[in-house]
Amino acid sequence: MKIIMLGAPGAGKGTQAKMIAEKYSVPHVSTGDIFRANIKNGTELGKQAKEYMDKGLLVPDELTVKILLDRVAQEDCKNGYVLDGFPRTIPQAEVLDKALTELGEKVDYAIDVDVPDENIVNRMGGRRACLKCGATYHVVYNAPKTEGVCDVCGEKLVLREDDKPETVQKRLTVYHDQTQPLIEYYDKKGILKEVDGTVDMNDVFAAICSILG
Ligand code: AP5
Ligand code: MG
Ligand code: ZN
Repeated sequence: MKIIMLGAPGAGKGTQAKMIAEKYSVPHVSTGDIFRANIKNGTELGKQAKEYMDKGLLVPDELTVKILLDRVAQEDCKNGYVLDGFPRTIPQAEVLDKALTELGEKVDYAIDVDVPDENIVNRMGGRRACLKCGATYHVVYNAPKTEGVCDVCGEKLVLREDDKPETVQKRLTVYHDQTQPLIEYYDKKGILKEVDGTVDMNDVFAAICSILG
C-alpha cells in the first residue's frame, strides 16, 4: 500500500503517518525528518536544506527528489510506504508518478488532512519534536510521559526552528502557492481522500482507517 499524506504544515500529517505506519506495517517516510536528521548530523545536504527550511521555504526539487527516490528504493519499502511531506510540488508528484509507472506501480491513496490556517499557528507553538526518531508531541494535545523527553527513544525534545510564528506564516503561504495544487492533481487521478483534521487525533485516525480498510 502506497499512501501520500497531504495537508498544511501542522495539519497532523506526521502524527497520522506514524499511526498508519504502525497499523499497516509500512515505513513512515518523511522528507522533513530526513532533512532534520541531516542537519543534526551536520552533513552537506543538511547544510543546504537548512538555508531554506529556516526561512519557511521549500528545499529545491533537485535536492529533494533524489533523496526520496533513494529512500523508497530501499528494501523495507518493497511492500509500500506512507509518504509525509512529499510530494510538495507538482513537479515532485510527476517525478514520483513516472518512477512508479516505470516499476509498474502506483500510489493508492492521497489523504488530505484538512485544517484551516487559523488552527495551525496555535498548534505549532505547542509542538515538541524528537530530532532522533521523528516522534512529534504537543504540550497540551499529545504530551510526552515525561516533560521534554521522547517516549520512544529518550532523546530531549525541542521546539523546531521553523515553528516560530513568522516562519509558520511563511510556510502557510508557501503551502497555498506550491503544495495545495496537489489536491486537484490527485483528485483528477481519482485517489484523493479528504479527512477533517480539526478533530481529536484518534478520531482523525479512525476516519483514515475507514478509508484504508
Ligand atoms: P515538514 O517536516 O514536512 O513540515 P510541514 O509540512 O511544515 O509539516 P509539519 O511537520 O510542520 O506538520 P505535520 O502536518 O507533520 O503536523 P504534526 O503531526 O507534527 O517539512 C519541513 C520543511 O522541510 C519544509 O518547510 C521544507 O523546507 C522542507 N521540506 C520537506 N519536504 C520537502 C519537499 N518534499 N520539498 C521541498 N521541501 C521540503 O502535528 C502538528 C502539531 O499538532 C503537533 O504538536 C501535534 O501533536 C499536534 N496535532 C496533530 N494532530 C492534532 C489534532 N488532531 N488535534 C490537536 N493537535 C494535533
Ligand atoms: Mg511533520
Ligand atoms: Zn525519539
